[in-house]
Amino acid sequence: MKFSSNTVLITGGASGIGFALAQRFIQGGSQVIICGRREYKLKEARSKYPQLDFRVCDVAEPTERIALYKWVTETCPDLNILVNNAGIQQRIDLKETPDWKTLNQEVAINLEAPIHLSALFIPHLLKQKHPAIINVTSGLAFVPLANAPVYCATKAALHSFTLSLRHQLSASPIAVIEIIPPAVNTDLGGKGLHTFGASLDTFTDAIAEQLKTGSIEATYGFSVESSRATREQLEAIFKQMNQP
Ligand SMILES: NC(=O)c1ccc[n+]([C@@H]2O[C@H](COP(=O)([O-])OP(=O)(O)OC[C@H]3O[C@@H](n4cnc5c(N)ncnc54)[C@H](OP(=O)(O)O)[C@@H]3O)[C@@H](O)[C@H]2O)c1
Repeated sequence: MKFSSNTVLITGGASGIGFALAQRFIQGGSQVIICGRREYKLKEARSKYPQLDFRVCDVAEPTERIALYKWVTETCPDLNILVNNAGIQQRIDLKETPDWKTLNQEVAINLEAPIHLSALFIPHLLKQKHPAIINVTSGLAFVPLANAPVYCATKAALHSFTLSLRHQLSASPIAVIEIIPPAVNTDLGGKGLHTFGASLDTFTDAIAEQLKTGSIEATYGFSVESSRATREQLEAIFKQMNQP
């Protein structure tokens, strides 16, 4: 994939991995549109890159996804890359009867939105040059961290969906790419909760290099290990990660 001459929509592109990808696409000479719920974060991003377009959008809401699709394809008819990056991570104790709204929020953002947006954008992308759908999953798609049970389930499901999507689109020009991050130092799950992760810039540079050389699965650190592990290795990693 080239980082130049694209028109790219990145959900959740105002912060963390989404913003770091936005920077690489802008620096490569692509037009980038980002969306998210917090307008001040979108404006903050645009103050750094005045050429960024943005839209306030909550991808948990099906009506907002449809409105985003209509707005982007009307204002940027050359849009050729969709990056399903927006995500949240919740620590949930299932013994404490969490309410369904809380549980479902994670499913709606992390899984329903990429599925719905992919379906909405495919007819548009089929008419573009060098089209791609990039889904951001996680090393935890392959082995769950039990205290984030819904998060890990959504990422496992998004990985599965990505494989089926790639298979269905294999005879089409749309490339289906999966970015599989390990823990990266961002605000995921709340400020200060992911400081143990890899440096955002080091991670994103490594991912960008893999995308440039045509990788359809871009991995780094722990996610290289987890995405290629045998069943026995996954069981050992699960035990190690989920020690009482
Ligand atoms: N950091 C890691 O360790 C790690 C590891 C594996 C996978 N990932 C994945 O990487 C992706 C990006 O996460 P990150 O680490 O960069 O965290 P982040 O800095 O918290 O970024 C998440 C972005 O998603 C946006 N978002 C969340 N809910 C949204 C919604 N309902 N509608 C629209 N936008 C929404 C947020 O903006 P608003 O809050 O303003 O909406 C934010 O800009 C996620 O899918 C995450 O699961 C991260």
